[in-house]
Amino acid sequence: MKLDKNFLWGGAVAANQAEGAYLEDGKGLALVDILPSGVKRREALLNPKVALTTNYSHYPSHESIDFYHHYKEDIKLFAEMGFKVFRTSISWPRIFPNGDEAEPNEKGLQFYDALFDECKKYGIEPLVTLNHFDTPLHLVKEYGGWRNRKLVDFYTKYAQVVFDRYKDKVKYWLTFNEINMILHIPFFGGGLLIEEDENEEQVKYQAAHHQLVASSLATKIAKETNPQIMIGCMLAAGEIYPYSCHPNDIWKSVQENRKQYFFIDVQARGEYPSYTSKFLEERNVQLEMEQGDEEILKQYPVDFISFSYYSSRLTSTDPEINQNRTTGNAIKTLRNPHLKASEWGWQIDPLGLRITMNQLYDRYQKPLFIVENGLGAVDELTEDGTVDDDYRIEYMREHIKAMIEAVSDGVDLMGYTSWGCIDIVSAGTGEMRKRYGFIYVDRDNEGNGTNKRYKKKSFYWYKKVIETNGEEL
Ligand code: BG6
Repeated sequence: MKLDKNFLWGGAVAANQAEGAYLEDGKGLALVDILPSGVKRREALLNPKVALTTNYSHYPSHESIDFYHHYKEDIKLFAEMGFKVFRTSISWPRIFPNGDEAEPNEKGLQFYDALFDECKKYGIEPLVTLNHFDTPLHLVKEYGGWRNRKLVDFYTKYAQVVFDRYKDKVKYWLTFNEINMILHIPFFGGGLLIEEDENEEQVKYQAAHHQLVASSLATKIAKETNPQIMIGCMLAAGEIYPYSCHPNDIWKSVQENRKQYFFIDVQARGEYPSYTSKFLEERNVQLEMEQGDEEILKQYPVDFISFSYYSSRLTSTDPEINQNRTTGNAIKTLRNPHLKASEWGWQIDPLGLRITMNQLYDRYQKPLFIVENGLGAVDELTEDGTVDDDYRIEYMREHIKAMIEAVSDGVDLMGYTSWGCIDIVSAGTGEMRKRYGFIYVDRDNEGNGTNKRYKKKSFYWYKKVIETNGEEL
């Protein structure tokens, strides 16, 4: 099976995990800028009110890997690997520092002009996420984040500004990173602070509705600005398997999968799915919709389905089995006895990628784009300035094989961007030592280091993969 000659190979990062320069050139604070690293980060993510009132000793997003000042050097390295596409995000508070200003911050806009021009110089297509876990903090404190309908206006204004500005430079856009993350880490996904006496589900689904409407409105604006622009949704994917063949387990897996697909059902098909009433009723949720919402969702669905894939997941109705849990990409899951796991407990399942891709394509019949996949691992820099990361090559080789199998199954796939193509700060733990990159960055968990970049063994391996369009793995 051969991939299309225009297959978009590349890598991905997010502004808040790479750029640093957290207050430079007029940037405002993003919600992620108040989060520490390590165990305290998890606490803060689950109880963000603590983060709002605590002074931590180190905030990893403040400097990250200083991509803001190193982007030329980094893009040159991506070009050397042969990248056709580079996924990053625009930091919303770099453009609107508080989120609710009348005018955008020109310096912030200039930075992305320079960044996208640099990509273009090497024939690299930017793929840009509008909102990747960095809603302006001011919108969280003053408006309550995405629970407030006003966020739709602030977001669409921001979208209008960046579409206008980059309409000829950026063709591929994603409206929200991992839109289903709002269910699992509502602060990250929606800037939500949930009170104890509130129905959490009500707040989350209402906020998600606002994001869905905002996503469709952004699509409308994009199409009106330049009809060539293509818009994608973005799902934290990973099929949820039933633990056993007991019908109860199968039914539970159907329900759990629907929970993740719910938002993509709307974004891809342009309407809430047939199971919505029952689904919301079970959660005691009453969605407030405004006149015109349903029309806008219908008229402006996405063009393609992008997703992250790190692992499959597992569910059971058996209380005893349910105790044997492990971590995963924000979503805790059951330990699958057939799978090995990374040092962070994320289970490794390449076939799960093929399964997930087939499910997504069967469900939506729209082109797919894998925009995140990779292995977070501890790397050791050798004396001769490289990292022998055979474990990463092994992980990626198996996943890329599975991806190509899925394409041979008939799935239409636009491209593949591996996550953290250069080492960046981990979103979940805030650590630097959880590394995904082909390029090592000299920086540790406490923020010490020279920020010098080194090519790992996987750098040369991935270069070959791209050169041969996936034929030499
Ligand atoms: C995804 C996010 O959830 O997983 C990324 O979109 C994140 O921002 C990635 O970095 C890997 O997770 P982590 O916690 O290992 O950084």
